[in-house]
Amino acid sequence: MVKVNLGGCDSFVKSAEYQSYVSKALDAFDTLQGEKGAGNDFLGWKTLPVDIDEKLIRDCEAVRDCWKAKGVNLVIAIGIGGSYLGAKCAIEALSHSFIEPETKVVFAGNNLSEEYLAELMDLAGKKNVACIVISKSGTTTEPAVAFRIVKEYIEKTYGKAEASERIVAITDARKGALKTLATQEGYKSFIVPDNVGGRYSVLTPVGLLPIVVAGFDVRAMLKGAAQEREELLVRSEDNAAVRYAAMRNLLHTEKGKAVEILVTYNPKLTFLAEWWKQLYGESEGKDGKGIYPASVANTADLHSMGQFIQEGSRIMFETVINVVNANRSVVIGSDGQNLDQLNYLAGQHVNHCNAMAQLGTKIAHIDGGVPQMEVSIDRINEENLGAIFYFFEFACGVSAYLLGINPFNQPGVEAYKKNMFALLRKPGYEAQTEAILKRI
Ligand code: PA5
Repeated sequence: MVKVNLGGCDSFVKSAEYQSYVSKALDAFDTLQGEKGAGNDFLGWKTLPVDIDEKLIRDCEAVRDCWKAKGVNLVIAIGIGGSYLGAKCAIEALSHSFIEPETKVVFAGNNLSEEYLAELMDLAGKKNVACIVISKSGTTTEPAVAFRIVKEYIEKTYGKAEASERIVAITDARKGALKTLATQEGYKSFIVPDNVGGRYSVLTPVGLLPIVVAGFDVRAMLKGAAQEREELLVRSEDNAAVRYAAMRNLLHTEKGKAVEILVTYNPKLTFLAEWWKQLYGESEGKDGKGIYPASVANTADLHSMGQFIQEGSRIMFETVINVVNANRSVVIGSDGQNLDQLNYLAGQHVNHCNAMAQLGTKIAHIDGGVPQMEVSIDRINEENLGAIFYFFEFACGVSAYLLGINPFNQPGVEAYKKNMFALLRKPGYEAQTEAILKRI
C-alpha cells in the first residue's frame, strides 16, 4: 500500500554502499522483530492494528453518539506531542478544507499561549461543548493547564453532573493526576496501553476517539494499518521500511546529510509532516546522533524555502509524500482573451499541474545536490493514512536500531521541564529555583 521509490538517490550512492546499508537495516529489522532491543517494553504499537477490538471502537462511537444527541458541535481535544499530533494529522487530512463540519474537533493543551486559550473560550461561548483530555502520564503541564480552564468552563456552563458526561479522559490505567481526577469526577475513561509510547499511540484511543468523534472511519484506518503490517513483517531486501531506513542512514552517515525534509504537496498533509517530525525527532535525536527532521509544504514553500533547498548548504535530503490521485476534480478552463496566458493548460486537471511541479522540483533538486526518496500512497483516505502511520512507525524502529538508538524513550524532553518548574516555583523545585535564578 505504501510504496518507496529510491530512484532519486541513484546518482548519489553506489549500489554496493546501498547493499551494505540494506544488510544493516535487515539486522535492525531482526532486532525489532526479535523484541530484544533497547526499549523493548514499548513495542505494543506493533500489533495494535490487529489487537484493537470491536468493543473499543463501539465505545468510541458511543461517546460520539451521546454527544451528538446532546447537540455537541465543538469538541476540544486536549493533549500535546504524541497525545495530539496523530489525531490532528488524520482529522486535517480527511476534513474538508473550508466547510465547517457538524462536529468540529479543535486542539488545545499543545502550547501555553494565553491568546490561544482566550480565543478558544470565545469560540466555546458560541458552541455546544465537550472535551477529550489526553495525557498518558497524566502529569504534563501544558494539557493540565488547558484542561483546568476548559473543565471550569464546562462545569460553569452545563453544571457539574452534566460536565461528567461531556468530559472523557484518556490516560494511564493506574497512575497520574489525570487518572485520579477522572476517577474522582466519574469521567468516562479510555486507557493508553503501558507498552505504547505517546508518539506511537495514534492507533490507540489517543488517536481513535478524536478521529471517530470528528466523523471518520477508524475501522478502515486500522484495516489499512493491518495490511501494511502484513507487508512489513516480511524480512526482505524489498521491504519498504528496510529500504527507507537503509537509504536515510546511508545518506546521513556516508554522505554527510544531517537533515531530512519531509515534503508534501497538499495542505491537508501539513500535519502528517508534524506527526512524522515528532516520531523521528524524539525517537532518533539522542546520544549526539540522529537526522534532523524538517518539513516543507509545497508548492507554497517552493516560494520560501525552495531557494535554500536548491542552492544553500548541501546538508539535506528529501522524502516526498507522493499522493497519486486527487479525491476531487477541478479542470482549468479556456479563456477567450487568454490575458493570463494560461490557455496552454486549458482542459488540464489542477492535480496534473501539481504532479508536474513535483516532478520538475525533483529533477531540479537532484541537479542541485539533494537526493530524493518518494513515499507513495494512492490517495488520501482512512485506509492509506492507517498504512502510512504504520509504515513510518515501523521504519522508525528499524532506522533507530540501525543507528544504535533506543527509539522508545525521550530523556531529553525533561530538561526544559525542570527549568520551567523551577522558574514557576513548583513545590519541590526550590533548590533548582535558587540555582537557575543565579544564571539569568
Ligand atoms: O512521544 C511521547 O511520549 C511524548 O511526545 C508524549 O506524547 C508527550 O510528551 C505528551 O505526554 P503525555 O501524554 O504523558 O501528556
